[in-house]
Amino acid sequence: MKIGLQTPVLMTRAVARFLTFSVAAVVALSWAGVVPAEEQLHPVLAERGVHFQTEGKEIPVAEDGIHDPNNPAVEVLQPPVEAMAGFPRDSAGIVDWVKALDSGIINPRMGLTGDEVMTAVDFDVIFKNTGSMPYVRYPHRPHTIWLTCSNCHPKIFIPKKGSNPVTMSAIMRGQYCGVCHGKVAFPPNLNCGRCHSVPRDTNLRR
Ligand code: HEC
Ligand code: HEC
Ligand code: HEC
Repeated sequence: MKIGLQTPVLMTRAVARFLTFSVAAVVALSWAGVVPAEEQLHPVLAERGVHFQTEGKEIPVAEDGIHDPNNPAVEVLQPPVEAMAGFPRDSAGIVDWVKALDSGIINPRMGLTGDEVMTAVDFDVIFKNTGSMPYVRYPHRPHTIWLTCSNCHPKIFIPKKGSNPVTMSAIMRGQYCGVCHGKVAFPPNLNCGRCHSVPRDTNLRR
């Protein structure tokens, strides 16, 4: 449990969401793609807030599950729908932050002072324990243009191919890729194909 000003709010929301999402059938249906995208949140992800301002959706800052709705600042923050109008979107209608960065629409500072330098590396790791799903391409470049190596290595991932027992349920519980995906990066439940992007018949050495 996080301790802080937002705790009572988070608890209320957690309880509300628990009630909304605890029905197992909803979860089962959502995985089958029957329930509309907005309700497709895994209970674990749902507790983290509904802040993926997908295309056509307008989630006020006070209702995004991240900001404290009792803080007057929510009245003055620019609405995301306005701030992100015209931003590139992925096939699920989620803002494509990698494209936004590459195209110069956003230009975040590299660190607190602005003098820091990022060292991006450009190589992929293919995960092949994907059942009947396409393989997963983990690309270093779009991560290391704004994350340093120590954001992931060695705490989240031992930097050695195949050394991390990553599973989809662990990701959904917020581990491995799920430390960020579903929190600050596109959520694992809304666009499978952005990670599972390599056809299984591809002849690849892992
Ligand atoms: C967003 C998370 C993340 C960041 C940031 C990151 N990596 Fe990785 N790295 C991974 C993952 C995932 C793997 C694959 C692990 C596996 O196969 O289980 C990996 C694997 C590696 C490997 C092993 C490759 C092999 O063939 O065994 C090296 C080396 C590596 N990373 C170096 C780096 C360096 C250098 C940086 C910083 C410039 C960096 N990584 C940043 C996630 C990350
Ligand atoms: C953020 C990236 C990401 C997204 C998005 C994602 N997956 Fe995965 N998935 C993975 C990784 C990584 C693995 C582990 C592969 C390995 O260990 O070789 C995995 C494994 C799996 C597996 C293999 C069995 C298991 O439980 O590990 C299945 C099935 C699967 N994913 C289904 C899905 C479905 C369905 C979706 C969309 C609802 C999805 N994935 C979205 C990254 C992702
Ligand atoms: C430390 C945080 C972090 C971790 C851990 C992490 N990612 Fe990401 N990932 C990001 C961020 C930030 C972005 C860019 C924002 C976005 O696209 O939502 C991103 C983007 C991506 C993209 C889009 C790349 C593109 O060019 O559009 C893929 C694919 C991806 N991640 C796969 C993975 C997989 C697979 C794993 C686990 C093996 C993983 N990520 C682990 C933070 C992370």
